[in-house]
Amino acid sequence: MTNEINFDEIDLSQGAPAQEPQRQYYFMKKAQILLAEKEAELGRKLQACIKTFGCQMNARDSEKLRGILELIGYELTESEEADFVLYNTCTVRENANLKVYGRLGYLNGLKKKNPHMLISLCGCMMQEPEVIEKLKKSYRFVDLVFGTHNIYKFAELLTTAMESDRTVFDIWKDTDKIVEDLPAERTYTFKSGVNIMFGCNNFCSYCIVPYVRGRERSRRPEDILKEIRTLVADGVKEIMLLGQNVNSYGKNLEEPITFAQLLTEVEKIDGLERIRFMTSHPKDLSEDLIQVMKHSKKICRHLHLPLQSGSTEILRRMNRRYTKEQYLALAERLRSEIPDLSLTTDIIVGFPGETEEDFQETLDVVRKVRYDSAFTFIYSKRTGTPAAAMENQIPEDVVKDRFNRLLTLVQDISREQSLRVQGQTLPVLVESVNEQDSSLVTGRLSNNLLVHFPGDASLIGEIVPVYLKECMGFYYYGERAEA
Ligand code: SAH
Ligand code: SF4
Ligand code: F3S
Repeated sequence: MTNEINFDEIDLSQGAPAQEPQRQYYFMKKAQILLAEKEAELGRKLQACIKTFGCQMNARDSEKLRGILELIGYELTESEEADFVLYNTCTVRENANLKVYGRLGYLNGLKKKNPHMLISLCGCMMQEPEVIEKLKKSYRFVDLVFGTHNIYKFAELLTTAMESDRTVFDIWKDTDKIVEDLPAERTYTFKSGVNIMFGCNNFCSYCIVPYVRGRERSRRPEDILKEIRTLVADGVKEIMLLGQNVNSYGKNLEEPITFAQLLTEVEKIDGLERIRFMTSHPKDLSEDLIQVMKHSKKICRHLHLPLQSGSTEILRRMNRRYTKEQYLALAERLRSEIPDLSLTTDIIVGFPGETEEDFQETLDVVRKVRYDSAFTFIYSKRTGTPAAAMENQIPEDVVKDRFNRLLTLVQDISREQSLRVQGQTLPVLVESVNEQDSSLVTGRLSNNLLVHFPGDASLIGEIVPVYLKECMGFYYYGERAEA
């Protein structure tokens, strides 16, 4: 996408255009010049580093931010000892939040050694007014702060920060805008996330995401398909369609389309081999989607279906809008229609008012559904959400005890479930050379299990058949098989 921008045609002696993304291209060129001046002054290249916290949405946003940094002329680095450091933050649980404050102190130390350093913060945490107040008061060494809604304006904001000696803050409350055709620097050559929608309208009572990501907006299917075609032409074999609730995709478009219909269109793209998506809200998962998945050759055998709690009463107070029985029926239906499907989930322990009986209901669902794996979270109180104001917050020791019991059960079942494919030969998309043992490569099955097998870097990005020899609990050791 980046090569579509013709910087020679941009005239900086004119004012910046009002239209997007042209306006951002203008500021990219301006930033290129400012950066080149700085390079000349310092006699070296300037380096930039982005650290990402949180979910796949943030990971994808960071790829877009990196794309812009690279285009401006920064060398990208993993090290925070850089000239521009950006933290893309998460605030879904309090510990995500605390991590950022902790690291900011460290960055301030680095900035004292390198006065040219620019420190920037963006992402979900920046949408919280208390965070901004705290930054203004106690973290004045930060140079640029922006939120989730104006990320597309990064080039413009960075230019402003480069020219200003005060902290630049730009936070929007919400937006109905989607800006297409901005560059992105992919972390992997062979797989990529693709946003299909932004924001969330569900307001689960514990969750801060709708407040920091705004209302649900779907991208137009033609824009999504165009992006995927471009990615595939550039070597991408696997895409992950991203949204907080992909099952409600398309409902608010001028020409409504369902998620199942979108998948059918994506499936037709030649050269694309694997389709994943995240996340599915159980209340909106349609029979159409089950059928499309069942008959698809490309949609991976993996569905992430967050349960949150197995107690109908807790689910009601979480505003999840399904009951234990409805969830179980859905899981049963999925297991019977697509037997090789891997089902994974998210579970919260210690929601306000959760009794031991409620918790037993959660364990019961885990035993019945037999999740292939599950993320378990301790409930974290998020200021501004309805649950934060609920009575009966659960004492820490009770929550910890429940959490440990849940984790043991989830892991025992997960180990047994992983054994389901032992002895089979299945296609693996190779992702990397194994970090511990360089004679091995690591890849993923369609069902998302990791497999290590002998091979070298030339296999990265290839899909190869692998004999699944030895199950190690949550991953496999395998051997390459004949195609
Ligand atoms: N949109 C996705 C989830 C996004 S947040 C969905 O609806 O499934 C990812 C996970 O974080 C959630 O599924 C939930 O399990 C967990 N989570 C969200 N808010 C939380 C909180 N306040 N405390 C603990 N876990 C939380
Ligand atoms: Fe949060 Fe619920 Fe929206 Fe998921 S669906 S992002 S848990 S409010
Ligand atoms: Fe965190 Fe924001 Fe994702 S709060 S989980 S990074 S949407």
